[in-house]
Formats: sequence, C-alpha cells, structure tokens
Amino acid sequence: MSRILSETSLIIAGAGGHGRVCADVARRVGWSVTGFCDPAFAGAREILGVPLLDGGEGELFADWPRETSLFIAIGDNARRLALANDARRHDIPLAVLMDPSAVVSPSAVIGPGALVMPNATVNAEAVVGRAALINTAAVVEHGARVDEGAHVAPGACMTGETVLGARSLLGARATLLPGVQVGADATVGAGAVVTSDVSECLTVVGAPARPVRKLDPVRAVV
Ligand SMILES: CC(C)(COP(=O)(O)OP(=O)(O)OC[C@H]1O[C@@H](n2cnc3c(N)ncnc32)[C@H](O)[C@@H]1OP(=O)(O)O)[C@@H](O)C(=O)NCCC(=O)NCCS
Repeated sequence: MSRILSETSLIIAGAGGHGRVCADVARRVGWSVTGFCDPAFAGAREILGVPLLDGGEGELFADWPRETSLFIAIGDNARRLALANDARRHDIPLAVLMDPSAVVSPSAVIGPGALVMPNATVNAEAVVGRAALINTAAVVEHGARVDEGAHVAPGACMTGETVLGARSLLGARATLLPGVQVGADATVGAGAVVTSDVSECLTVVGAPARPVRKLDPVRAVV
C-alpha cells in the first residue's frame, strides 16, 4: 500500500458483526483501527482490542481527530449512506476498504467509503458508488454499476452492464442477467435470478424473479 503514515488511523462507525469484519479487512490492508463508534455498545471498553469511543457519531463528527479517516460499517443501506453524507458535510475523509484477496480491475472506479470484501471481483470499467458494499465473493462484472449505498450480498452476481440502484440490496447468491437495471431502494431476494428490470422500491424473489411487495418511496437521503 502506498498510504503515508499520517493517514493510517481509522475510526469505524458500527461495532456489530459487520463492523468487526470491516476491522479485520482494515487491519489486513495496513490501517491502524483507533476506535469503534457505536452507542449501541455503550459500556464496553473495547471490542477486538479496539477502544470503544464515547458518544455517538454526532459528537464525534463535530470534533473529528486530525489525520484520521472514517469507515462506516452499518448494514442498513439508507443509514450508511446518510451517515456518509453527514461525514462529507464535516469534511471527514472516508476510507475505501478492499480486502487483499479481492480482484479489482484498474479500470474500475471505486467511490469513497466503499467496501470490497474477501474474494469479491470487480471487473473492467465497473463503477462502485459511495458507501456501496460488495460483499464476500460477490461478482460485479464489466461495465456494471453499483450506485451509492447499494449492497451486493455474499456470492451475488451482477453480470455485464447491469445496474443496482442507490440503497438497493442484491441478496445473497442472486443474479442479475446482462443489462438488467434495478431501481433505487429495491430488494432482490436471496437466490433470485432477475431477467428484466426492477422498478424502485420493489422487492422481487425467485427464478425468474417476481414481485412480492413494494415499499413507499419514503427513504430519500438528504
Ligand atoms: C426477499 C426478502 C427481503 C423478503 O423479505 P420479506 O419482505 O420479509 O418477505 P416475506 O419473508 O414475507 O416473504 C414473502 C414471500 O416471498 C417468499 N420469499 C422470501 N424470500 C424469498 C427468497 N429469497 N426466494 C424465494 N422466495 C422468497 C416467501 O416464502 C413468501 O412467499 P409466500 O407469500 O408464498 O408465503 C428476504 O426473504 C430475502 O431474501 N432477503 C435477502 C437477505 C440477504 O441476502 N441478505 C444479505 C445479508 S449479508
């Protein structure tokens, strides 16, 4: 890694299971994880040897330590993206975490705050948006686009030129057939095979995928 020493400190927002996995990835690529921020664990002194910081993100963002980056390890897509937007308003640098076992094309574009987990593949000219999550062994094929805050779950496959809209979930081992576009705030169930476009806020399951429910589009992120 070509990171300079003064940039190696990292605070992780979210100390649950996902946050702990992110701490492992961060350490593997050379970050010094100097704290977890997670009011849900108030009372704990440390987790996996990392100190638990006092207070919530609000107080922390207002008094951010110098030369420290932030990684947001919150599973809920809308919340993760909202917090990334908040961090941007405070000029807090968002780290990108890519596990050393992941294969990421030099022509792929990876946005700030994104996570590429172990054994994932992001191929040529794919675009992974801000605070997006490419989970364990997921595949983002050539020219595919993962919009901000979206989550490609473990073993899921976005074939060539597909789109996963902002804050949407492509469930574990689900597949988007070539060129398929999924709108914002949609959910594709685990194991689904999506053969045609999915509109925003829709949940689809099965092979071929069929709609099961539609959310009200109330999840706009400021
Ligand atoms: C799709 C999903 C979100 C549905 O959740 P839900 O809105 O609570 O829906 P329900 O559980 O009420 O199920 C609705 C119907 O879809 C079916 N269903 C749910 N998930 C399904 C799936 N993955 N594949 C096939 N059918 C599924 C249910 O059996 C039910 O069918 P019925 O109406 O005939 O009884 C959820 O089941 C799922 O697959 N989530 C993905 C989880 C995941 O991969 N997370 C990544 C973590 S890292």
